[in-house]
Amino acid sequence: MTKETILEVRKQFEEALNRAKDPASLEKVKHEFLGRKGKVAGLFSMMGDIPPESRKEMGKMLNKLKDDLSEAVALRSEAFASGKERAKRIDYSLPGYAVHRGSQHPLTRAVDDMLSIFERLGFDIAYGPEVETDWYNFESLNFPPNHPARDMQDTFYTEGGGVLRTHTSPVQTRYMSSHEPPVRIVAPGRVYRNEAISARSYCLFHQIEGLYVDENITFADLKGTIELFCRLYYGKDVKIRFRGSYFPFTEPSAEIDVSCFLCGGKGCPVCKQTGWLEIMGCGMVDPNVLKAVGYDHEKYSGYAFGLGVERMVMMRLGIHDIRILFENDVEFLRQF
Ligand code: DAH
Repeated sequence: MTKETILEVRKQFEEALNRAKDPASLEKVKHEFLGRKGKVAGLFSMMGDIPPESRKEMGKMLNKLKDDLSEAVALRSEAFASGKERAKRIDYSLPGYAVHRGSQHPLTRAVDDMLSIFERLGFDIAYGPEVETDWYNFESLNFPPNHPARDMQDTFYTEGGGVLRTHTSPVQTRYMSSHEPPVRIVAPGRVYRNEAISARSYCLFHQIEGLYVDENITFADLKGTIELFCRLYYGKDVKIRFRGSYFPFTEPSAEIDVSCFLCGGKGCPVCKQTGWLEIMGCGMVDPNVLKAVGYDHEKYSGYAFGLGVERMVMMRLGIHDIRILFENDVEFLRQF
């Protein structure tokens, strides 16, 4: 017997103890190591062969081994006993604690749904800052210097001379300023307007901007993409129509209506008996916008569109007051 033999037995014991998951197997371990004919007793019986000069040291080691193993067995045995006690005190028939699950805000949900459709159609997602420069928010988008949208009445200005973006369109020119064509992006985000707060308008809301610029992009591409988007979002039977309109950054410009998804076009209070709902503005990117970002407007053309998320969600859910989307009233939010 050497010190290594003792260490080996200690190691075997630890492994055996780890495997003992119930009182019966613990009892077996105890018997195997600490029993009258167990491994520890076996070691003691070999003491006679130890030379006198190391007998004292080996004896000490063996006694320590025996004490440690006995203590470990006792501790484990207590742990089993108290676990059993505790188990007896648990009433398994009591109901569990309810875990309240959160849910996505309807605006977040709508944006996610729309973005995933555009991603499937090959659009990348881009973001821009909410505090914009006058240049990106207006100038680069071909707003003349005295355009009424720049009025303090409509736009929030920051003390440092920035503007809280009034639409997501500045992401178009920001993105094009740092990327070469082709670009195909959608840009979701918050926009701000200094409007009197009412059931119909709030100081902030959400838009999704779209932009596709490449060689030979035409109005037919715009129509095809929007039509496909509407089918995927509203269902395959939806009808769409384009109405001529005006925006400084597109030429020609249009507004898009979809057949009312509530009445199917027959006429109802949501579509105000017209059968149509306006969902977005769009058009062919004005050459002045391409020039502003240094693109060759002879070579490239593109389309853009912008849709208002709140309007969409309100129509979908039959909400008549936009403010409820911003109050975070759990009674409202819990319905989703
Ligand atoms: N920026 C416009 C707004 O806030 C919406 C818009 C219209 C965006 C036409 C576009 C577009 O990209 O082509 O009212």
